[in-house]
Amino acid sequence: MRIDIISCVPKLLDSPFSHSILQRANDKALSEVHVHDLREYKVNKHGHIDDYAYGHGAGMVLMADPIFNCIEDLKKERDYQEVIYMTPDGEVFDQQIANHLSISCENIIILCGHYKGIDQRVRDEVITREISIGDFVLSGGELAAAVVADAIIRLIPGVLGDETSALTDSFQDGLLAPPVYTRPREWKGQEVPDILLSGHESKIDEWRLEQSMERTKERRPDLWEKYLDAHPEVKTKPKKKKK
Ligand code: ADE
Repeated sequence: MRIDIISCVPKLLDSPFSHSILQRANDKALSEVHVHDLREYKVNKHGHIDDYAYGHGAGMVLMADPIFNCIEDLKKERDYQEVIYMTPDGEVFDQQIANHLSISCENIIILCGHYKGIDQRVRDEVITREISIGDFVLSGGELAAAVVADAIIRLIPGVLGDETSALTDSFQDGLLAPPVYTRPREWKGQEVPDILLSGHESKIDEWRLEQSMERTKERRPDLWEKYLDAHPEVKTKPKKKKK
């Protein structure tokens, strides 16, 4: 998969893709992330990429032409399945959207907004999807773009060491992940639950599911309601946490 990120502050994206899992994905040629500086597409005689908003009140707005020209240049090289604009008024990103993008896209453009946003006309002309990472406003779309790219890339087969681990993440089955433990077996008087030391795989899976259900019910009643709707067979309350 190739992800092209367009930004007017490209340096903000130097670090997220140069470490750990995302760097390994790049080294293994499973993903490529290219960051493009929108300022290279400045158009007017002052070399600006933004201008005052029509009407009163609003601040600076990124102009249509630099964005359009940058996207057109990329599209000359390859086909893109999605041109995503990061914006707080987009659809709220979740695991389902990450799964969909990871499975169905080979090439994606992600455009980061800044200031008061981008000219609505270029939004209407070239953007195929608008994504928010939550109901809060960041100073630009860069960190949001890094979040989306990370969530998509880690799902590409081969990126994570353990092929199954992406499937057991929180949210993949609509539930939060269960608690996990490692050595030592006893820490500050707290023991690892006996079941995890039993070697009994099906019982351990059952325990994990119960813990996931309990945690989801307590922490995310909104997700729990959806889970119950999708799993009418789950009628009984999950058992209380046991050690
Ligand atoms: N740009 C600014 N805030 C954002 C948000 N919450 N999600 C995506 N892009 C953004």
